[in-house]
Amino acid sequence: MKHPMHRNKLWRIAIMSAPFLTAAAALATNASAAPPNPVEMVDALNGTFGRHAGARASHAKGQCVVGQFEPSAELRRLSRSPLFDHPVLEAVGRLSVGGGNPGVSDKSRTVRGLALRIGDGTRTYDLVMVSEPVFFAATPESFVSFLQARVPDPATRKPDPEKIAAHNARYPEGKNQPALLAAHAAPASYASTPYFSNNAFKFVDRAGRGTWARLVMEPAAGTQYLDAAAEASLPDNFLIPELTQRLASAAVEFTLVAQQPGPQDSLVDSSRQWSGDGQAPLPLGRLRITGLGDAARCDGVTFVPTLLPEGIEPSDDPILKARAAAYAVSFARRQAK
Ligand code: HEM
Repeated sequence: MKHPMHRNKLWRIAIMSAPFLTAAAALATNASAAPPNPVEMVDALNGTFGRHAGARASHAKGQCVVGQFEPSAELRRLSRSPLFDHPVLEAVGRLSVGGGNPGVSDKSRTVRGLALRIGDGTRTYDLVMVSEPVFFAATPESFVSFLQARVPDPATRKPDPEKIAAHNARYPEGKNQPALLAAHAAPASYASTPYFSNNAFKFVDRAGRGTWARLVMEPAAGTQYLDAAAEASLPDNFLIPELTQRLASAAVEFTLVAQQPGPQDSLVDSSRQWSGDGQAPLPLGRLRITGLGDAARCDGVTFVPTLLPEGIEPSDDPILKARAAAYAVSFARRQAK
């Protein structure tokens, strides 16, 4: 068995040096039952969805967009960051379809993603959100097990329901996000679904007072899923033409709100939905997507949910804590092609 320090060192080397990734992953996979490291988490994504040159390990299919974010007075009150003193901030974002398959259908009943970087040239704030209010795992262990249970069976090319049942027996939270996704068809547009941070963050004001929140990007167009006729007739790639058509006549708008926890709501378990028993949601600002962006603008970076300005702090959620390093591994792999 390898010493945990040795494993730790291995993935750090792997992040910095793409050519070593395969060897590092092989060694790491043989190691003990310590929590999965970032290489193992990205291997789990690649194991389920395949490895596709130049593509993200997760949310492989997507479109870069550009626009602006206008912080609200409430956001300036909640967070001491000077970033929000500007009336308008530049925004670059990426809208995506969940999963690591760049050829996935836009009609698939998976999450849609919104990654966003807003900045003033000096400071930045990244938000990386999905279209359901909960994540499919509460911990990195559960994340890897969820994906391994969905590796397609070579004979049927579909996940084995027994493996999924065994995963759910061990990690019951694995049922939460799939149940929400099964309850409706895919979003009819990138502009007609809300996006959720799942993880909680603390907004800290100038007096040092903290306010916990999960973030929700609410669509000005309202929430609309495909109806049965559209689900049957639309082509597999309809989201970008639909978005292009919308943008030709107006900006696509969202309101960012801070959902507040009720007394029983967890700050560290993103697989559980918040009750709505907290104070009323607080409006944080308006996002206006004004156009499509060059792929290079989004593919040359990785959006990182813990890349936060001062005055916004991450929670201790083990999922949130695991994300940045896994995103870096995926970034190194897709840059190496
Ligand atoms: C341990 C938990 C997680 C792991 C290991 C993970 C892993 C990844 C990886 C490897 C990527 C590709 C990054 C890149 O190449 O730039 C990615 C992208 C993404 N993830 Fe996660 N993820 C996790 C949790 C979450 C959660 C909780 C959310 C949302 C609430 C989320 C939303 C997204 C989105 C929207 C993208 C696409 C970003 C883009 O368009 O550039 N992920 N994730």
